[in-house]
Amino acid sequence: MKIIKVGLIGFGIVGSGVVKILSDNSDVISQRLGAKIELVKIADLDIETDRGVKVEPGVLTKDVDEVLTNPEIDIVIELIGGTEPAKTFMMKAMENGKRVVTANKALLAKHGDEVFSLAEEKGFALGFEAAVGGCIPIIRSLKESFAATQIKSIVGIVNGTANYILSQMTENGREFGVALKEAQELGFAEADPTFDVEGIDTAHKAALLTRLAYGTSVNFDEIYIQGISDITLKDIDCAREFGYKIKLLAISKMNGDSVEVRVHPAMIPEDHSLAQINGVFNAVQIYDDLMEKSALIGHGAGSLPTASAVIGDVIEIARDVLLGVSSRVPVQAFDPKSFKNLPVTDIRQIETEYFLRFNALDKPGVLSVISGILGDHSISIKSVIQQGRDEGKGVPLILMTHQAREENIQDALAKLNHTDVISEKPIVIRCES
Ligand code: HSE
Repeated sequence: MKIIKVGLIGFGIVGSGVVKILSDNSDVISQRLGAKIELVKIADLDIETDRGVKVEPGVLTKDVDEVLTNPEIDIVIELIGGTEPAKTFMMKAMENGKRVVTANKALLAKHGDEVFSLAEEKGFALGFEAAVGGCIPIIRSLKESFAATQIKSIVGIVNGTANYILSQMTENGREFGVALKEAQELGFAEADPTFDVEGIDTAHKAALLTRLAYGTSVNFDEIYIQGISDITLKDIDCAREFGYKIKLLAISKMNGDSVEVRVHPAMIPEDHSLAQINGVFNAVQIYDDLMEKSALIGHGAGSLPTASAVIGDVIEIARDVLLGVSSRVPVQAFDPKSFKNLPVTDIRQIETEYFLRFNALDKPGVLSVISGILGDHSISIKSVIQQGRDEGKGVPLILMTHQAREENIQDALAKLNHTDVISEKPIVIRCES
């Protein structure tokens, strides 16, 4: 049986999952591929710590060049994450004629133009299924299964850590910090968990989905990003009172001459299918001109689900190697000649419904001042709840609006902040139905 030799850079949580699956599932992998995959080198700065998986002697090295310049190696798996030195390693691997598989969403979201261009120039596939949604086959679906469709929008829960935290807060009344610690212990969180809770990881994934859905590069810095660290149990309770749940969403829409790409906590109706996605599970909904709505759901993070996606890519690329062909499928789903460079829609231009929570002073006429200012900004109120008094802190007043323009909301709130009818900065959560 033929052997495809593979090198791994990064022996962390996902790296150890890769080693485990290649060993435990070697038979089924060989039966599917018709060849064996042999992991010949693993490069990591720490080669002493026991990862609980068996590694043959001589495989571990601290010298990354033993992977990057090894003439035996056909496929390099990059799992160190972050932009540097991962970018240098990936570019060097490709320059050396190696095909690359990565889970590195941060690198591809921020430097995709450069990295994808080199893969296109070399004519090689670049596997990054594990970069979005853990084991959910969303990258392959967008590249191949949806190739006949005009995608209009994508809405997804694509960060397992944030979804785990929000689910724990919602279902078990857990405090934010406690749930975050659990997610870290379970191996879901990024090395820097602020990427998970501040929406940055979700934005990396949103940028990649947008590229593949519409065939456009995305300037990562233009994406509106808001995380979940300001969400309190109070917001979650208020959402429940209105029949909503709070989820961190990646939203990507084709607006013709621009793409709307935004990441923020959103209220979604309790009967919305994304409201049923709990814990570390991820889900991506795709809206297109043929099927209207499709959904993919699965484990969004963790060692084995992510490693499973990595090895799926390795097997796909190993098939190219066995046949001695370059990649059949464009790296970014579209023929490079058709690839566009659309700007991201300014967040002030979006339209959606809003949940607004005020701490209003408890005196006559306050509601009319608030509704008057909202009305002056063309914001129509859908429903209002005034809750019991918070002694000495004013009256919690909650409003849901009809569809409104973000710039009108921001301008109205700026004006309200200058009145004496509210005592704290209002809480604003966008709604998605
Ligand atoms: N930290 C990420 C998450 C890992 O929680 O979803 C998967 O990309």
